[in-house]
Amino acid sequence: MPNITNSNEPGGLYRPTRREFLKTSSKAIAGVALAGAIARPGYAAEDNTIKIALIGAGGRGTGAAQDALATFKQGPIKLVAMADVFPKRLNDSYEQIKKDRPDQVDVPEDRRFIGFDAYKKAMDCLSPGDVAIFATPPGFRWVHFQYAIQKGLNVFMEKPVTVDGPTSKRIIELAAEADKKNLKVGVGLMSRHYRVLQELVQRVHDGEIGDLVLQRGYRVHGPVGFFNSFVKPEGISEVMYQIQRFHSFLWASGGNFSDFNIHIIDHQCWLKNAWPVKAMAFGGRHFKTSPDGKPYVDQNFDVYSVEYTFADGGTFIFDGRCMTGCSEIYSSSANGTKGSAIVSKSGDYGSGMPPSTYKGQLADRANLVWEPKVADDEKNPYRTEWKDLIAAIRNDKPYNEAKRGAEASLVTSMGRMAAHTGRVVTYDDILNSKHEFAPDIANLTPDGPAPLKPDAKGFYPVPEPGVVTDQEYKS
Ligand SMILES: NC(=O)c1ccc[n+]([C@@H]2O[C@H](COP(=O)([O-])OP(=O)(O)OC[C@H]3O[C@@H](n4cnc5c(N)ncnc54)[C@H](O)[C@@H]3O)[C@@H](O)[C@H]2O)c1
Repeated sequence: MPNITNSNEPGGLYRPTRREFLKTSSKAIAGVALAGAIARPGYAAEDNTIKIALIGAGGRGTGAAQDALATFKQGPIKLVAMADVFPKRLNDSYEQIKKDRPDQVDVPEDRRFIGFDAYKKAMDCLSPGDVAIFATPPGFRWVHFQYAIQKGLNVFMEKPVTVDGPTSKRIIELAAEADKKNLKVGVGLMSRHYRVLQELVQRVHDGEIGDLVLQRGYRVHGPVGFFNSFVKPEGISEVMYQIQRFHSFLWASGGNFSDFNIHIIDHQCWLKNAWPVKAMAFGGRHFKTSPDGKPYVDQNFDVYSVEYTFADGGTFIFDGRCMTGCSEIYSSSANGTKGSAIVSKSGDYGSGMPPSTYKGQLADRANLVWEPKVADDEKNPYRTEWKDLIAAIRNDKPYNEAKRGAEASLVTSMGRMAAHTGRVVTYDDILNSKHEFAPDIANLTPDGPAPLKPDAKGFYPVPEPGVVTDQEYKS
């Protein structure tokens, strides 16, 4: 494996290009890890084909792999390995990707891995310069990222990238390690790759609507995903139940608050060009049972209202709700001293575009200043984020979104923690918080102890604002 940290260049690190990686790999095959990868049957790494390993072959992982393969016009790219902890998820994903892109899927059975160490085996099938996709629940991100860096692999990791303070610090440190190795890292906050949103942000930063004073974001709709859970049924272990229903458990996902709301929180902070310095929040669980009276036992609140404050006093209010039968709003907007902007009309993507700016505070067509057309090939940011990552890899341009992804995840957790504790939480509070939700996550086994213990009736610890205030729940 080329030495990528020692440099004989004055004042700098040796930063091998992808071509150099490949040249070295085909010539020498000296490194142990690399030798392992090349020795695997079925493919060789001598050409400019980028090989992909998918870790976490669920809904988004399948989509991310398809988006990666759709960059074929930028150069050859193929899926060579897959990993999951549930065989059915992996098989379904394999079938779907294979059907969509038959010529770009080369994943024989001996490169489909199941289990908690499957991520290592899948990444062992890659060579330095290839790409590992992480689309498991985010609790596992740092574990997988650490291994990818060790192997010299580029990474695409889904949002959120962390669920608490300690793991955010860890990802920020790992991001610096990845930089030293010249690895490219994409994070699935795809709004950042919308060309029209990039233009809105530039316009706002250039003063088109004056100084931002109030930003708003709403994601209020009925229960989706694994927002709520009942007592674990027989036939599945505690660990596997919590992983399968990851939105219900803070250690796995950061809860529905982090998983659902990070996109709007991130793009509003981008618009402000700052992370908030503190959060004050309200929240609670109104419905404790299903309509037919079965108790919900997960850790989520069904309503959250967070007031984020920026260093200049600017305010961003985010409201989230998962309840049936209420008004549904999923949008974001900003008010400045000279005008206003709609950031997303609905959702985080697709139908939310284009953004627009207005004279004055009324987002009325008569006051419209700017509303761009979205080019056809820019309508899907899940595709543009991959175009950007692959372009950076092929052209060896600096590209590492991991630190920013960890910061976006951290400030999202800051709002959640403020609601869960009933206390004002500052950026430093959450960054330096000692409560790591799943410290043993790297050593989980299917039948071993789970990060969260249910009580005798199968209920999990829940936040108790004002009672448990130094961390989000008693563990
Ligand atoms: N960018 C977006 O808009 C977007 C959209 C949806 C989901 N996501 C993110 O993608 C991630 C996955 O979400 P999803 O909706 O695809 O969930 P999912 O349950 O459909 O998929 C997760 C997969 O990971 C597998 N898995 C769990 N732990 C694993 C481990 N340790 N090793 C290997 N595999 C493991 C699960 O079995 C499952 O197949 C989440 O972080 C979510 O927030 C992002």
